[in-house]
Amino acid sequence: MIDWEERYRTGDTPWDKGGPHPALARLLPLTVPARRILVPGCGLGYDIAALAAQPDVDAVVGIDVATSAVEASRTTLAGLPNTRVEKADLFALSETHRHAYDLVWEHTCFCAIDPSQRNAYVHAVADALRPGGHLLAVFFLTPWDTPEENATQGPPFGCPAAELDRRFAPRFRLIDVRETPATYPGREGREQVRLLQRV
Ligand SMILES: C[S@@+](CC[C@H](N)C(=O)[O-])C[C@H]1O[C@@H](n2cnc3c(N)ncnc32)[C@H](O)[C@@H]1O
Repeated sequence: MIDWEERYRTGDTPWDKGGPHPALARLLPLTVPARRILVPGCGLGYDIAALAAQPDVDAVVGIDVATSAVEASRTTLAGLPNTRVEKADLFALSETHRHAYDLVWEHTCFCAIDPSQRNAYVHAVADALRPGGHLLAVFFLTPWDTPEENATQGPPFGCPAAELDRRFAPRFRLIDVRETPATYPGREGREQVRLLQRV
């Protein structure tokens, strides 16, 4: 298992690009109801800030297991009253998060967790959403160059699109899937944006 706190403490955070994912700006304004938004594995909180700036967003809640990330994101988000960051494990969320959100924004949390936790991720996110709520995700399908590396190396752990279809199908209906409209240099063609609705 990865010691995420240690990664932040030692500055071993290659995912930290200093701002929100470039696709997020292109996906805004959101086309689905999103008054309350959850960001699992929120890291340093940049995506939270971008989402919180949208009109009609009452609350964006970030969760992360790493204390240093939580503290840094609270600093990033100071002055944004419709944001909150909790130190919490996605796989052990308290009852207060149950059915509490209209939207979950996923970006580099799913690829960070151990592949053995993927079904638990699907259930955790579905349980946090109200019935009919949405999951908007940038999935990192192929962080590595070969199928073998994508199957065995990580984080980030690659995930074939067909596996996403299969794992999310029990709890979600796939509404839209497309290549990321914008991304970081080097990630072109490696990601997919998906909009799913909790069934
Ligand atoms: C690769 S980083 C991405 C952070 C952020 N999404 C970004 O793009 O900057 C993965 C993040 O997920 C967090 N994380 C890993 N497992 C988690 C879990 N079970 N519950 C909550 N957060 C988790 C880590 O601490 C880390 O901040």
